[in-house]
Order: sequence, then structure tokens, then C-alpha cells
Amino acid sequence: MSINVYPKTVELKDGRSIILRPFVRNDAQALHAFLKAIPEEDRLFLRHDVRDPEVVQKWMEELDSNNVIPLLAVDDDQVVGIGRIHLLTHGWMQHVGHMRLITARTHRHQGLGGLIARELVALAESRNLEKLQCHVIEDDTAALRMCQTLGFETAGVLRGMVKDQRGTKRNLAILVSDVANLGEALDDWIQDSMVPAYRVPGACVG
Ligand SMILES: CC(C)(COP(=O)(O)OP(=O)(O)OC[C@H]1O[C@@H](n2cnc3c(N)ncnc32)[C@H](O)[C@@H]1OP(=O)(O)O)[C@@H](O)C(=O)NCCC(=O)NCCS
Repeated sequence: MSINVYPKTVELKDGRSIILRPFVRNDAQALHAFLKAIPEEDRLFLRHDVRDPEVVQKWMEELDSNNVIPLLAVDDDQVVGIGRIHLLTHGWMQHVGHMRLITARTHRHQGLGGLIARELVALAESRNLEKLQCHVIEDDTAALRMCQTLGFETAGVLRGMVKDQRGTKRNLAILVSDVANLGEALDDWIQDSMVPAYRVPGACVG
């Protein structure tokens, strides 16, 4: 899929229209505002303290590399979701991407996470990635269920592997899937869960 297909408009279950597009350097302020507003319950399970301005700065620096596929969900000029795939450009895991995403509480349970994931999977296919993985803290029910619903399978759980934002050790679940299977699983999920809000065929309403 070409980057030229953006911006794309998708429709949530409640009818809200959301723009999906890659993020660019000019989005730094809006991104920071979104990340700063993430409540502690969510931050607890995230890899970084996303309130730290250095996080956005690092994300912006990554835009210059080929190692990230960045996607932003925007509602009325406000960032309401972020999705990224991290990839390696050399070595034995260059066929594997690492997917991360987060949606605003105001927009949850409306299919936004799934729609961002579907878009990222299409972008992963266009970059010839063969597998995607997600790392989630085992207690993060929403993230775990979402990954499983969207077609990922738990490949393993590393006990006590990570420390949450409070410093408590947690189990890290590694979920993986073939990119090709994910595309199909996500299309099935869209058919079952998003239709009629989401019009098929095609990954997103253009
Ligand atoms: C996980 C997260 C991205 C889900 O976002 P969302 O926009 O609510 O997701 P969707 O509405 O597309 O839900 C997709 C599926 O995930 C599952 N799901 C989502 N939230 C869930 C919850 N709280 N409990 C159980 N299942 C849940 C459901 O199966 C849902 O499909 P369905 O509505 O057809 O049943 C969101 O809760 C979040 O940002 N959490 C904090 C950050 C995080 O943990 N990110 C994950 C790292 S990859």
C-alpha cells in the first residue's frame, strides 16, 4: 500500500468519522497532548512514561529512519489514537514487525483499535513483512483480548520479565501472527463487528 492513499476516513461503530494518516513532525504537539492525557491506569501497562516529552521527541527522530511505520487517528483535529510498527532493516528478524497501539478512552470499544490494526497490517504487507508480534502485560486484559480477537496467538509468557510504571514486576505476553493470516482475521472481524458502519470490500473507507 502506498503512503499516497492517506488521509483515509473510517467510521466507528457509533458513526464518528476518524481520519487515519501517517504522522509527521508537525504532529509533535498534538501527539504530546494526547499522550499527556492518558490516564494512569493505562500508563501503568505502557513500555515508557509517555508523559515525558522525550518520548515524542524520540518518535519524531524515528520518522527519519526506515524502522517505523507510524499511523495517527484524528478526530476533529485531535489525536485519538496512535499505531506503530517497528521493524529492523537487517538481520534475522527483518521479516518481523512489532506492533504497538493505543486509543483514547473517549473512543474505545468503537472499533478504533481494530481499524488502526487493519491499516497497519496492510502497511506491513506492503513492506513485505511476514510476521507481526505484540508484547503486552498479561494483566492488561483489554490489550490481550484485542490482540487475540484480531488474530494474534499467545506464543509465550515471560514471567516477571518487565516492570510496570510503578516498578512492579509483571508477566509479558508475546503474541504473534503471520501477516497474511492477520489480514484475513481482521477482515472477518470487520465484517462481524463493524459492519454496517464499515463498508466492504477494502480495508478502509477511502
Ligand atoms: C487495547 C486498546 C488499544 C483497545 O482499543 P479499542 O479502540 O477499544 O479497540 P476496539 O474497539 O477496536 O476493540 C477491538 C477488540 O478488542 C477487544 N477489546 C477491546 N477492549 C477490551 C476490553 N476492555 N476488554 C475485553 N476485550 C476488549 C474486543 O474483542 C474488541 O472487539 P469487539 O468489540 O468486536 O468485541 C485500548 O484499550 C488501549 O489503548 N489500551 C491502552 C494501551 C495498550 O494497552 N495498548 C496495547 C499495546 S499493543
